[in-house]
Amino acid sequence: MATKALILSGGKGTRLRPITHTSAKQLVPIANKPILFYGIEAIREAGIRDIGIIVGDTANEIKAAVGDGSKFDVKVTYIQQEAPLGLAHAVKIARDFIGKDRFVVYLGDNLIIDGIAGFVKRFEANKPNSQILLAHVPNPQNFGVAELDGERVVRLVEKPKEPKTDLALVGVYMFDETIFEACEAIKPSWRGELEITDAIQYLIDRGCDVQFQIISGWWKDTGKLEDMLEANRMLLERIEHKVEGDIDETSRIDGRVVLERGTVIRNSVLRGPLIIGANSKIIDSYIGPFTSISYSCEVKSSEIEHSIILENSRIVEVRGRIESSLIGKNVVIEKHSQLPKAYKFMIGDNSRVELF
Ligand code: G1P
Repeated sequence: MATKALILSGGKGTRLRPITHTSAKQLVPIANKPILFYGIEAIREAGIRDIGIIVGDTANEIKAAVGDGSKFDVKVTYIQQEAPLGLAHAVKIARDFIGKDRFVVYLGDNLIIDGIAGFVKRFEANKPNSQILLAHVPNPQNFGVAELDGERVVRLVEKPKEPKTDLALVGVYMFDETIFEACEAIKPSWRGELEITDAIQYLIDRGCDVQFQIISGWWKDTGKLEDMLEANRMLLERIEHKVEGDIDETSRIDGRVVLERGTVIRNSVLRGPLIIGANSKIIDSYIGPFTSISYSCEVKSSEIEHSIILENSRIVEVRGRIESSLIGKNVVIEKHSQLPKAYKFMIGDNSRVELF
C-alpha cells in the first residue's frame, strides 16, 4: 500500500500579523517561493503522490496557489476544517481520505532543509505504529517536548513550562491507522485544542510501537518573523547564480544572485546571496545579502538587506537602510517633500514599525 501525506495548512498565523490578516502564513514566500511549496516538494521527493491538504479560513487562497497538484506531479485532495481545533482534530477529519494507508502528517509552516525522504524510507521499512522526528532546540518550552529512555520514547509533553529535555517534536509525523483511535480518545488541552502530542502519548501508553529519529540537519517552524528571516537566509545560501535581468554598466553585482525574467537594474549595487523577482526594478539602490524581493517591485534610491519584500511593493528614497524586515504586498514606503517634515503612516492592524 502506498504511503499518503496530509499537509496541515489551516491555522491563523497570529504571530505573523499583519501579513496574515490578508494571506495564509503557509503562502508567505521564502526565497520567492511559498513555504508550503517546499513541503509539497519534500513529500514528492519522498515518493508520495497522494496528498490531502487540510484547509481552514484561507482555503481559497491555498487552493488557488496549489491547484490540483499537477504542477508538483502530485494529486491533491482538499479537506476543510471548520475551526482550528488542533492538529489531532485535523488528522481525525482526514480519516476517509487516509483509509487504511500509512501516512505522513506535515505541518505546512515547517521547513526541513534536507527533505524527508530518508525518514519516510525508514518508516516504510520498519512499519512502526508511529515515527516521530525530534530536534535539539534552545527553546523547548515553545514545542512539544520528548523524554526518552534509551531507544524508547516515554513521554511527550506539549509546550511544558519546565522542559525535561531540549528535544522538540518536529512538525512531521508518521502514522498508521491506530492514530485515529487515539485522536478519538483524547480530550482538548488547556488551549482548547486536540493535541497531536497527546494522541501520540496515548499510543505510547497503550504499548504501541512509537519510534523516533533525531534530525541533524536544519529545521524550522516558520511561525515568527525571526524564523522567516532565518529560513530565508538558509535557502538563499543555497541558490545558484542566475541572471535573466537587464543590468546596466554602472551597476555592480557581488556574489551569487538570482535575477528573474524582466528585472531591470540601474546604477545599483547588488551583494548576494539575494533574489529579485520577475519585472522588479532596482534603481540607484543597494540590495544587500539575504534579501528576497518578489515580482513587480520597485526600489529606488534606497538600501535594503536581510529582508523579505512581497509583490508589487515600492520603496522610494528611504534615507536609512532597511534591514531585518518583512514587507507585505502592494506596500509603499516613500519620501515626501511637503511640509511639515514629519513621518506619515497608514499602517494596518498589528503592524510593527521600528525607527531609529
Ligand atoms: C505544533 C505542535 C508542537 C510541535 C510544533 C512543531 O506547535 O503542537 O508539538 O513541536 O508544532 O512545529 P504549534 O505550531 O501548533 O504551536
